[in-house]
Amino acid sequence: MHFTEKILVLDFGSQYTQLIARRVREQKVYSEILPYNVTIDRIREFAPKGIILSGGPSSVYDNDAPLPDKEIFNLGIPVLGICYGMQLMAHMLGGKVAKSAKREYGRAELIIDDDTDLLQKIGSRVKGQGSRVQGQGARDGKFNIQNSKLNKLVTRHSSLVTIVWMSHGDKIVRQPKGFTPIAHTDNSPVAAMADRGRKFYALQFHPEVAHTDNGTKILKNFVFNICKCRPKWTMQSFIETTTRDIREKVGRDKVVCAISGGVDSAVTAVLINKAIGRQLTCIFVDNGVLREGEALKVEGMLKKHFRMNIVCVDAAQRFLKKLKGVADPEKKRKIIGNEFIHVFQEEAKKIKGAEYLAQGTLYPDVIESISFKGPSAMIKSHHNVGGLLKNMKLKLVEPLRELFKDEVRVLGRELGMPDEVINRHPFPGPGLAIRIIDEVTQGRADILRKADTIVLDEIKKAGLYHELWQAFAVLLPIKTVGVMGDERTYENVVAIRAVKSVDGMTADWARLPYDILGIISNRIINEVKGINRVVFDISSKPPSTIEWE
Ligand code: XMP
Repeated sequence: MHFTEKILVLDFGSQYTQLIARRVREQKVYSEILPYNVTIDRIREFAPKGIILSGGPSSVYDNDAPLPDKEIFNLGIPVLGICYGMQLMAHMLGGKVAKSAKREYGRAELIIDDDTDLLQKIGSRVKGQGSRVQGQGARDGKFNIQNSKLNKLVTRHSSLVTIVWMSHGDKIVRQPKGFTPIAHTDNSPVAAMADRGRKFYALQFHPEVAHTDNGTKILKNFVFNICKCRPKWTMQSFIETTTRDIREKVGRDKVVCAISGGVDSAVTAVLINKAIGRQLTCIFVDNGVLREGEALKVEGMLKKHFRMNIVCVDAAQRFLKKLKGVADPEKKRKIIGNEFIHVFQEEAKKIKGAEYLAQGTLYPDVIESISFKGPSAMIKSHHNVGGLLKNMKLKLVEPLRELFKDEVRVLGRELGMPDEVINRHPFPGPGLAIRIIDEVTQGRADILRKADTIVLDEIKKAGLYHELWQAFAVLLPIKTVGVMGDERTYENVVAIRAVKSVDGMTADWARLPYDILGIISNRIINEVKGINRVVFDISSKPPSTIEWE
């Protein structure tokens, strides 16, 4: 991407690396993550205005400690080391790092000793709390801080204090030549240090996490005051650059894109459509286990709002035939995935000149695939389209591969997509098939579709939709006795599942109000023929999963 104001984050394996890039991007400055051992030529080519060295689980004294090319310190570019990044700066630039007597983990009070640039406008003054490092000794790094002579060389007075998040086992016992400590904690005499001449800065704590009170301000100080970046990376500029890139890449060729109804594929399609218009054909496959009216909704949105080329294939009977007699969830997934590939290929072949396949791959998938943790961190195959490339010899267009999920939503909004599409709950590729326990039949799919519509209807009416990660109905293969009017009934049970989650990895069952549950239950039993009992799922993930299959 052609942006001149960029911050490079070198990844040393911290669980927070992605957060650093996100915090920088929130300041409208483009930021990318590369593995720590990327070549110096690649860094020069990337031409960042600043480099951030992430944290990581290693110790600089480990035999296999990840160390970057030393040349990064000769590029004349500002560098900010965070946690492990700080220790390796100390280690590589001539300071000394040693095991802390006490591992420092969690909340800590940071006393700011120098608030001139990186720590400018951070913290609040507290009387007689800490100490400000003064004098030439501190500036040229003569102190042996381990012996804590520091206290003798400071004047006690009111201090600037802020709360930070620590997570380290090693600490700096002597800062490298040229560095001055600019903050400390009770346990870390050098919790932050600076070499202003070379524009090198380092923090023992994590400014990128929400628990660090002024973390974003610190990163802003680095990005704007020290690296002199300007906030130019906006979604509008992203759209301009990306559409230009797509036009250059694709030329006069045609692109096909599988639409699932989910956010990523819809935003991908709308963005590519903006770039090349009718050279793009979207293919939407109705697999017979979609939600009520889904095909019409997706087609309507893309055609009405964006005048897109879209082919809707009604393959419901093909899928249902293949699913006949199959109860095993993994078999259902495989059958649906394979059949999708066949249907998609048949349709794509009809499009003369199609050379490219558009995919909604996101940045977290890309980072995972380039992570230095090695081949075990495999790239996730995009559901349903994972197997397409092998057979079709298509080249890939992945315009979202630099974006995080929340940025995709911002992009969609900027492209004028309706809120209903941008903020919709995730829906699994195998659809209702993994919510029909036991064999999938047309009749069962119809029953579940009706119940599912009622659940979502009532949750939206109650204004709860956006508070939930997912809400849906599950059709159980159990019949129970009921009474309707004067008649005995013997029909199926539906379970309602509603969960709160941040990323789907863990989830808590949502405490839906009894009144809403009551309305949903009443409506399902009265309106959906074949159901005479409704239950509510109160299991969290783990140990349960969100889907029942
Ligand atoms: P679980 O059930 O594993 O679900 O807790 C976590 C998230 O993943 C979705 N999910 C799927 N999505 N194909 C998909 O595209 C699948 O086979 C699949 N299985 C689960 C689920 O809806 C939830 O958001």
